Amino acid sequence: MSNEGVNQGRRRFLTGATCVVGAAGVAGAAVPFVGSWFPSAKAKAAGAPVKIDIGKIEPGQRIVEEWRGQPVYIVRRPEEALASLAKLSGKLRDPQSEESDQPDYVDPVTRSIKAEYLIMVGLCTHLGCAPMYRPEVGDADLGGEEWLGGFFCPCHGSKFDLAGRVYKGVPAPTNLKVPPHHYESDTVVVIGIDQEGTS
Ligand code: FES
Repeated sequence: MSNEGVNQGRRRFLTGATCVVGAAGVAGAAVPFVGSWFPSAKAKAAGAPVKIDIGKIEPGQRIVEEWRGQPVYIVRRPEEALASLAKLSGKLRDPQSEESDQPDYVDPVTRSIKAEYLIMVGLCTHLGCAPMYRPEVGDADLGGEEWLGGFFCPCHGSKFDLAGRVYKGVPAPTNLKVPPHHYESDTVVVIGIDQEGTS
């Protein structure tokens, strides 16, 4: 089997992803947070759930919200990103999320309720730095052709895939945490409380 088709496919995704991220970056600079805060800032600081409208997130875009004083990353994953998850299991420390912190109602591979949306706490499981969103396929500084997009922690070099699953051989011991959450409607997600009403 020739690699040519694979490489061309990756480059097409790279080009598309770069455009999307570029546009998202510009939009993000002007409007850093998408969605609404709920309930009041005072209640939020005490740990109340946070309701977020995700309807305006573009494919490939990542937004950052806050819950219990922690950053929560929400990524709308395009088809290519979801397809990449199945190719990585041999390179990951916990590909089925058996030893990682996530609600049991999320899929262990996509680590989400709806595969299109990744929702996770943006704190590295090593020492708590904020991993950078690096969706560009094939970036030379992250492994070249082997890098299919994901998150990179700048503090000590831990790498995670586009489901927040940690690579082997890096300092972070487990996958990034998925917080309790549920969908109130197609486009409104509530962070901090699950379907059963517990948090
Ligand atoms: S805090 Fe992320 S690798 Fe150390």
